[in-house]
Amino acid sequence: MTLEGLSSVAILGAGKIGGAFVRQILQKTGIRVYATGRRVETLRGAESLGAVATRDNDEAVRRSELVVIAVKPYHFPQLLSEVKQESWKGKIVVSLMAGVKLATLRAALHGAKVFRAMPNLNAYVGKSSTAVSENLYDDASRTVEEFLGLFGQVYWVPEEYLDVWTGLAGSGPAFIAEVLDALAMGAVAAGMPRELSYKAVLDVLEGTAILLKNGFYQHPAMLRDDVTTPAGTTIRGLMVLESGGVKATLMKVIEAAARRSREIGNEIDSRIREKINSRIGHTA
Ligand SMILES: NC(=O)c1ccc[n+]([C@@H]2O[C@H](COP(=O)([O-])OP(=O)(O)OC[C@H]3O[C@@H](n4cnc5c(N)ncnc54)[C@H](OP(=O)(O)O)[C@@H]3O)[C@@H](O)[C@H]2O)c1
Repeated sequence: MTLEGLSSVAILGAGKIGGAFVRQILQKTGIRVYATGRRVETLRGAESLGAVATRDNDEAVRRSELVVIAVKPYHFPQLLSEVKQESWKGKIVVSLMAGVKLATLRAALHGAKVFRAMPNLNAYVGKSSTAVSENLYDDASRTVEEFLGLFGQVYWVPEEYLDVWTGLAGSGPAFIAEVLDALAMGAVAAGMPRELSYKAVLDVLEGTAILLKNGFYQHPAMLRDDVTTPAGTTIRGLMVLESGGVKATLMKVIEAAARRSREIGNEIDSRIREKINSRIGHTA
């Protein structure tokens, strides 16, 4: 099935990332979107974007060919209890939940073709960097790739990389925002107005990203060297950066975030498995 063949998509949990998905789908395609939530505010927000908003997760799943799970991982057992097992049959399901493993999703969603993806909040403007596991090399994979392409770049990766991806690209917008804020504050400390500093820093980020993305430099260090005049301003700044251990700190930031993703995964995944097993035991 191509994206054009999709008539309806369900977004289960139209919160921050789910809402970003709703927005892009409705801006870029004619696909009908069923968006679910619990609070009136969530439903109204989705409705204002043009989605069909409902509290009924089962109906949203039944009416859609592709289903996105965008609730917090610890809300997944409750969501499962709200959708009849047979409703998942034949659906393409893309889980955005951090930590919940493919094997667990497959055990929970019988008869569905299940994918696990990790986008980031830049999906709101179609600029996410999204990893997805695992490529089944069939029609469903092509549909999922085209679908996730609505929100930005898509990379098929083995599931074992998803925790690092979560630390780097999932959490990444927050880390970049902090670095941008620090640089702008530095300019404020040196005497420039905040608004102008902030604009300048954003331009620098954008231009640097374009230079690197378009291959003008093979490595960030080469770009750095081109800016660094002997005895100039940049080397003085770089010396402070080095003495503050900023590079090592940023490396540890990603390592720590990836480690936490793994930890959450292990905690949550086993809790969800217990619930699934007890549910299966209960209904048997
Ligand atoms: N935020 C990110 O940058 C990001 C990036 C990648 C992946 N993710 C993943 O995406 C998921 C959602 O994260 P988020 O930041 O978007 O959280 P969020 O803003 O809290 O959104 C979660 C939504 O799920 C809804 N929900 C909870 N239980 C539900 C149920 N039983 N039925 C229907 N809707 C239900 C909530 O509705 P109410 O508000 O009405 O209670 C809420 O709107 C998480 O698993 C996270 O790991 C997030």
